[in-house]
Amino acid sequence: MSLTILAIESSCDDTSAAIVRDGQVLSNKTANQEIHQIYGGVVPEAASRAHQINILPVVEMAIRAADIDKTEIDAVAFTRGPGLIGSLIVGVSFAKGFALSRNLPLIEVNHMMAHVLAHFAEDPKPQFPFLCLTVSGGHTQILVVKDYLDMEVIGQTIDDAAGEAFDKTGKMLGLDYPAGPIIDKLAKEGTPRFTFPEPKIPGLDFSFSGLKTSILYFLKKQVTENPQFVEENLADICASVQARIVSILMNKLRLAAEETGIKEVALAGGVSANSGLRQALVEEGQRKGWNTYIPKFEYCTDNAAMIGITGYYKFLQGKFVGQDVSPVARWELSSPVL
Ligand code: KG4
Ligand code: ZN
Repeated sequence: MSLTILAIESSCDDTSAAIVRDGQVLSNKTANQEIHQIYGGVVPEAASRAHQINILPVVEMAIRAADIDKTEIDAVAFTRGPGLIGSLIVGVSFAKGFALSRNLPLIEVNHMMAHVLAHFAEDPKPQFPFLCLTVSGGHTQILVVKDYLDMEVIGQTIDDAAGEAFDKTGKMLGLDYPAGPIIDKLAKEGTPRFTFPEPKIPGLDFSFSGLKTSILYFLKKQVTENPQFVEENLADICASVQARIVSILMNKLRLAAEETGIKEVALAGGVSANSGLRQALVEEGQRKGWNTYIPKFEYCTDNAAMIGITGYYKFLQGKFVGQDVSPVARWELSSPVL
């Protein structure tokens, strides 16, 4: 008997729906919200309203692209958290309504767990246990993934996330939001000739707020001396900032691999689309004899396919929730996971 899951993701500014059958992604449709570009960051109220407009058409598109009938859906998986509460409410309410109307079981999914399990949407799949560096606009963490639903955070940011470091730097440079992909593109044409300090944080935790401050003071000083400094050196600034963010991430990942002895190493989250980080992982993997894994771009950024994959493994373990479930803005991944 086959198992077909409708998955819903609405934790931040992307409205996404997917159909996953027996752990295989049949469709994955996402509506991005351009409104936040005007403000240079996600505006929670605007995100919530856009989710309300997008959710129905996105679900319809996912069902149509999967070439299935609604009646073939056996369960509904949804992101319960962590995320923006107003955004989550839209996805959770939709999932509950859909499940109630068809008497289907509901599966709650932790968004950060789903980023990790995005690796199981396609081959090659990492072997357990593996290390996963999850880097997004809201999170930066290293996990030991022992099994599908058993993962432990062994390091995380104590302030900003890596994606935030890209986006906030972009704001200082006058770039559009989200700036990560723009900095990535510009960095390819530049040379990392400006040096920003590496934060001195012990263990496997990260910090990016000091880097942000040092970039700000650096730019202020340079612009005072030459008002055209940013325009004249944009590619080199981007290359330098990217090089430092990548080195911060890779140094901690290297340490995690040394401390755990694990040689299966994976990247997840929106920032894993970064070409500098991808290249650094592959090169380090070749030096250290790691097997490295990076999902395709569609599964790196926020998407419902990863929610459906996670929902599939939770379904197999009978982990369902009732109609009384409500979204949670904060939801720490612990071991064993909820
Ligand atoms: O995982 P994601 O789609 O959403 C969150 O859960 O946050 O990640 C979005 C983040 C943004 O900060 C964006 O700037 C960053 O991923 N990002 C990138 C690249 N593509 C997306 N950062 C650096 N280089 C990229 N190519
Ligand atoms: Zn995410």
